Amino acid sequence: MEFGKLADGTAIDAVELSNGRICARIIALGAALQSLQVPDRNGKPGDVVLGYATAAEYLAKPQYFGATVGRYANRIRGGRFSLDGKSYQLAANDGPNHLHGGVKGFDKAVWKIDAVNSGSPASVALSHVSPDGDGGFPGTLEVTATYSLNEKNELSLEYRATTDKPTVLNLTNHSYFNLAGGGDILGHRLTLLADAYTPVDATLIPTGERRNVAGTPFDFRQPRAIGERVRDGHDEQIRFGRGYDHNYVLRDEAGTLRRAAKLEDPASGRVMELLTAAPAVQFYSGNFLDGTSIGKGGRIHRQGDALCLEPQVFPDSPNHADFPSARLNPGDTYTNVIVYRFSTAGR
Ligand code: BGC
Repeated sequence: MEFGKLADGTAIDAVELSNGRICARIIALGAALQSLQVPDRNGKPGDVVLGYATAAEYLAKPQYFGATVGRYANRIRGGRFSLDGKSYQLAANDGPNHLHGGVKGFDKAVWKIDAVNSGSPASVALSHVSPDGDGGFPGTLEVTATYSLNEKNELSLEYRATTDKPTVLNLTNHSYFNLAGGGDILGHRLTLLADAYTPVDATLIPTGERRNVAGTPFDFRQPRAIGERVRDGHDEQIRFGRGYDHNYVLRDEAGTLRRAAKLEDPASGRVMELLTAAPAVQFYSGNFLDGTSIGKGGRIHRQGDALCLEPQVFPDSPNHADFPSARLNPGDTYTNVIVYRFSTAGR
């Protein structure tokens, strides 16, 4: 279906994947998840992701709602890195740093819808070609994003990419979740299967340290309400992020799909498990939502109205030799697999 048009008249198509209970709408702009209807414990559907009602708003007021973020999700210090002795300068679009692919990242590209499969699982495959030098990154990058929804209420997303020159990349999905379908996420309970996170400086660039979460507000090894410690101003890291905006190092080895996180909304009973093969997850508690973005249904989005769990390699990896590598060589295929598994729990 046509979702809408950009200001310049470009038509943006949308595809809906449904299994009769869950319905996901994916738009070609940013290969983004624009809405996700999920039933609560009484079977009542609710939209659990933030998004805009119109295509033009995604460009007019970019928030990365549901978008594919690339070429490099999160930050690169000073927008600078070097590869094989050659240095590269990217846009500094977040204070002194590079964020989420720069001025025109993958969230602002109109992706091609290559295939729609109505079978079980229902799926849609999108692709995008980023030319050599795009945004300052080396190599022609050919990227695909495939969403599929199965009968087990799992929405899966697989990113794949190839390059014709050595490059760095970090693709993720930037969905903002609110399992209540409204209100804020402070009462949501989060479990993160991570024993450590990477502390940041005041510009949110990792210092290089991996810090144990034990005894800190960052400990989500057991389910904890997000609102419990999100205002803990004693912790410098919480102050730097204005809440949670940190990279969690997942416990089990990267490369195979494993559980990373669980999010529960006790009020609606909706539960989401996150599985990924990525080494880490950025947990962002929606700290920079400041009431200036008006989402679907005319809703104003304020701080803490939604949260992101972004499976990724570590931020600023190209500048840290001991972080998992973000390098992709010609002949190799990059993959990032993300599964959002939905269920409900009783009171
Ligand atoms: C980052 C935040 C940033 C937000 C932008 C998140 O992934 O960690 O620092 O403000 O994206 O929407």
